[in-house]
Amino acid sequence: MEQKIQELRTRADEAIKNSATLKELDEVRVKFLGKKGELTSLLRGMNQLSAEERPRVGKIVNEARAQLENLIAEKNSSLKSAQLEKKLATEKIDVTLSGRKIYAGHLHPLTLTLNRVKEIFVSMGYSVEEGPEVETDYYNFEALNLPKDHPARDMQDSFYITEEILLRTQTSPVQARTMERHKNNEPIRMIAPGRVYRRDDYDASHSPMFTQVEGLVIDKGISFADLKGTLEDFSKKIFGEKTKIRLRPSFFPFTEPSAEVDVSCVMCHGAGCKVCQGTGWLEILGAGMVHPDVLKMSGYDPAEVSGFAFGMGIERIAMLTYGLDDMRLLYDNDVRFLQQF
Ligand code: PHE
Repeated sequence: MEQKIQELRTRADEAIKNSATLKELDEVRVKFLGKKGELTSLLRGMNQLSAEERPRVGKIVNEARAQLENLIAEKNSSLKSAQLEKKLATEKIDVTLSGRKIYAGHLHPLTLTLNRVKEIFVSMGYSVEEGPEVETDYYNFEALNLPKDHPARDMQDSFYITEEILLRTQTSPVQARTMERHKNNEPIRMIAPGRVYRRDDYDASHSPMFTQVEGLVIDKGISFADLKGTLEDFSKKIFGEKTKIRLRPSFFPFTEPSAEVDVSCVMCHGAGCKVCQGTGWLEILGAGMVHPDVLKMSGYDPAEVSGFAFGMGIERIAMLTYGLDDMRLLYDNDVRFLQQF
């Protein structure tokens, strides 16, 4: 009996040692220690032994069982850690592999242009004001010196909601709204960016909806020279140091005198090219000294203060800075175009 146990131990030890996988090891466990295993059947054979021998042999069998269980447990953990190491070795992350790019959106070229314009004026101490896109006839026209039958209204035919309410045709109504919020000839230095609407055809240089930035400065002693200096400074900042400006006499009912402002062509720098149609100049905005009646209507005293105002089209500026030849590109939402910014 003892010999049998000895012999079983030798075979079991060997089998445990040679198990290469957890599955093999488990098979060994079942073979020797399982319910129908070899050691278990040896135990069963003990009833043939004499009463004196039984406890001694029983002890040996139990010891053998405990030792085998230990051996199996040890082998089990060493197999497991070997398996883990192998897994770690084969699943090594190759940090030299180039990554997959995550597609990120970005600001629209019009927004980028608008932000740049805002930045320039904010750096000069202007505040940024807002007004409604659905505007009353009063603010869009009347408060700007365009009474109901004024012929200059024809230049800005609009989308009317009722007789008195329309989609604003310009950001100029924000001038009147801002002046009304101030008392006692308080100085103003503001810009007002936003969308405006006109009953225009949709072509390469027109759209029934576009973006403007209005500017208004009111204080004691503001002169036309201040207007010119401000616009020159702005033009150099947005189009480059070499940019020149030119003022041509014009008419707006809410400014007097009024001017159209041109910048030297951003493409040919004045030599004459397709973009400036050979003239060397590009029109970018309308401006002028705030009409005394406009100041009066919104509570300012033209005897005490004066001011200048300007209004520019942001699409135009975006087209010039990015070299676009069709305004519709800005509204088509074609990602092949938008991805370039
Ligand atoms: N509101 C004018 C337009 O849309 C531009 C302008 C603004 C002119 C302010 C003078 C002063 O054409």
